[in-house]
Amino acid sequence: MLRRTFVAGIAFAALTAGGVAYAQDAVKIGMIVPMTGPSSSTGRQQEAAVKLWLAQNGGMMAGKKVELILKDDTGNADMTKRIAQEMVVNDKVHVLLGFGLTPLALAVAPIATQAKVPQVVSAAATAIITEQSPYIVRTSFTLPQVTVPMAEWAAKNGIKKVVTLVSDYGPGIDAEKAFVERFGKDGGTVTESLRVPLRNPDFAPFLQRVKDAAPDAVFVFVPSGFGATFMKQFADRELAKAGIKLIATGDVTDDDLLNDMGDAAVGVVNSHHYSAAHGSPENKAFVEAFKKANNGMRPNFMGVGAFDGMTLIAKAFEKTKGNTDGTALVEAMKGMSWTSVRGPVTIDPQTRDIVQDVYIRKVEKVGNELFNVEFAKIDQVKDPVKAAKQ
Ligand code: PHB
Repeated sequence: MLRRTFVAGIAFAALTAGGVAYAQDAVKIGMIVPMTGPSSSTGRQQEAAVKLWLAQNGGMMAGKKVELILKDDTGNADMTKRIAQEMVVNDKVHVLLGFGLTPLALAVAPIATQAKVPQVVSAAATAIITEQSPYIVRTSFTLPQVTVPMAEWAAKNGIKKVVTLVSDYGPGIDAEKAFVERFGKDGGTVTESLRVPLRNPDFAPFLQRVKDAAPDAVFVFVPSGFGATFMKQFADRELAKAGIKLIATGDVTDDDLLNDMGDAAVGVVNSHHYSAAHGSPENKAFVEAFKKANNGMRPNFMGVGAFDGMTLIAKAFEKTKGNTDGTALVEAMKGMSWTSVRGPVTIDPQTRDIVQDVYIRKVEKVGNELFNVEFAKIDQVKDPVKAAKQ
């Protein structure tokens, strides 16, 4: 099992008052991500982002040095759970961070609750995750949050008949439901909803069914890391030539893989909360620094989720003045706002989900590279499933 521990930053002078140790204790963050297996790009992106955050902040949070314990769960939920338990009991981490897939985040929820340790979910994106523990706070997104704007855009832009095609697990089912519901309300028709197995997906037979149904568009969700395989099979089946548009969540046209997708991806309209092409000065500086520190690797939304996870944890420690009590930290995280490289964000104090701008983008060639170029923005979107209950 991969285990990397690194203590960043300068050692802080010991401060004691009344025999109680304060600021000399490190902030301990236990980070669990898939570094191997089909979702390894999530781990690679999140590790790079967290290391960049530490480098840019002198390895410190609220005047304390940060001790980061990073472990690979290989995408296996039993392993995620075992590692989380070990980190809480043996390493005595103050915060858990990461969780590259929904089942991995769900496996840790009972541990976060029992140990009263904040679980900052920086990747997984099924809506219900934050409802599984009062100690879960999310810096990634939810699938309904980014899917509803895509369905609204489709209905307004001449698309009348759609087939949905999603990975058959939590976030895919969330995306399918959100699309079917919103597109239907806006006057569109979803004629078929196809679900593809998550592991080793063969999209070909499903794409053939889409082709036979001849809709105006196919709406697709596959998780980060799977988009290139999908796009290749989409191109091979010549759906675009048959007049079927591809619309998607930005997970499909993931910045990490987009440049290798080739011309099949050009013109794909999709919705998401982060693009490496986002034009803010904060993002330009972030992309440049990220690429410089990582051999030219472009950051994607997974990297940004982890970078913001670190910002949120730091802000919480600042607010508690270094108090490491998990309940105090979660309370401090509620309602927290900051300027992310994706745009302005807030942690919804009721749901502990992130409220953020969602962008409609089109894949375009800029110079020699492919980018998700933002052309419309929906301000400060909450997870719509929970917002409806509020
Ligand atoms: C998830 O499993 O929750 C997940 C993973 C990758 C994505 C989106 C959601 O791109």
